[in-house]
Amino acid sequence: MKGASGSISPGDLPAEDLRRLGHEVADWIADYVASVGDLRVFPDVVPGDVRRSLPAAPPEAGESMEAALADFRDIIVPGVTHWNHPAFFGYFAITGSGPGILGEMLSAALNVNAMVWRSSPAATELEEVATDWLRQLVGLPDDFDGVINDTASHSTLYALAAAREVAYPEVHDGGLFGLPRGRVYASEHAHSSVEKAVMTLGFGRSGYRTIPSDDAFRMRTDALEAAMEEDEAAGIRPVAVVPTLGTTSVTSLDPVGEIVPLARAHGAWVHVDAAYGGPAAIVPELRPLLSGWEGADSIVINPHKWLFTPTDCSTLYCRRPGVLVRAFSLIPEYLRSTEQGDVKNLMDYGVALGRRFRALKLWFVLRWFGRDGIVANIREHVRLARLLESWADASEDWEVAAPVPLGLVCLRHAPPRMSDERADDINQLILDRVNGSGKAFLSHTKLHGRLVLRVAVGNLKTTERHVAALWDLLRESAAAATSD
Ligand SMILES: Cc1ncc(COP(=O)(O)O)c(C=O)c1O
Repeated sequence: MKGASGSISPGDLPAEDLRRLGHEVADWIADYVASVGDLRVFPDVVPGDVRRSLPAAPPEAGESMEAALADFRDIIVPGVTHWNHPAFFGYFAITGSGPGILGEMLSAALNVNAMVWRSSPAATELEEVATDWLRQLVGLPDDFDGVINDTASHSTLYALAAAREVAYPEVHDGGLFGLPRGRVYASEHAHSSVEKAVMTLGFGRSGYRTIPSDDAFRMRTDALEAAMEEDEAAGIRPVAVVPTLGTTSVTSLDPVGEIVPLARAHGAWVHVDAAYGGPAAIVPELRPLLSGWEGADSIVINPHKWLFTPTDCSTLYCRRPGVLVRAFSLIPEYLRSTEQGDVKNLMDYGVALGRRFRALKLWFVLRWFGRDGIVANIREHVRLARLLESWADASEDWEVAAPVPLGLVCLRHAPPRMSDERADDINQLILDRVNGSGKAFLSHTKLHGRLVLRVAVGNLKTTERHVAALWDLLRESAAAATSD
């Protein structure tokens, strides 16, 4: 901080400046959220543009926050892909909702580290409350204990570490060296985070076996059973099965009700990846799609996907939290306390010692929307997805490439008599045109080796008007691509 004489004294931004700038920032946030739909979704930049616009070295003398905020507005925001835009239909569309944004702001101000109960009792206990509220909302039994991680990738890693602990009790002290090989099974449409976790846990890539899916992209249980039997005959231990409820490519839902007893019969842990699909269980008419997940050992649900909570927030539910704790608990002397044993110490549930206060934003979201608000919004997203599906179904030039159980439509421009190779090229051109227009943002996948455009509806501001505008843009882009 600069003194009147120009000398530098230690200290933070003065409280009065924080108040004034805080009001400005709050105004900016409210304006941004209200008018983000007027911006380009994908920025008009090429790689390196943002970096080139910023000084390569840090300032020696501190600068004003006004200068930093001006650069935020002039350089950073124009280089952002706006996930909070109502025409963001890529990957899984999400929302940093108002209540969630307020929760993030306050948790930054509190800046607590909830590594143990003592280091922030309220952060620990609110995490227990918020994850338990979410458990009740999705209708899971009360023996599922929840913790919050940053991402589903870490939640799945931790769940599979618990599975490894059960399959190889010796691993805790001796490691995997010299033990029989083990395998984790997931459908060919499972997210790459499952295979990454398997690699990280020391099973190697050969410790991961993908199971083929049926016509609706759901894991085939006959193939799962055959794979586990074949592996056991070869001396390989089935460690875990990871069904997905809402796969990344197509939002298919694996038949968890059939998978659980099969996995049990082979002594395997069941971890359900409901990172995307989990919140659908809050909607009464969608809940049956997830039936059987209540029999799992662990489940991941990401409130930062379809539950309006700003990134990052992933809840891991575990039926046997003691196993998770056994896998990770290692208590250094300086973190021992007299209440040990009577409280939850979040550091015991994963690799990270430090924990952000993520529960606050989730709690605000659950309070503000309530069950009714969540149901109304998810229901509307599914309605909009099915509306787009119906338009594409009615057009002979477009194909709906997968069923639409939730909020994602997989589309392919495929006029009669167009070869698959040509259609792949055309769909790539359509994708590039849509994203290059800045009017909407899509991502893609490949199904049966063919390029497919993914339209994910999941932003709270997305209305029928945005979906209709996208449908027009897709058809215009297809016409332009085929005439090129
Ligand atoms: C089904 C599924 N599981 C897991 C993940 C990984 O999520 P995260 O980014 O939270 O690690 C994704 C990401 O889109 C996903 O779609």
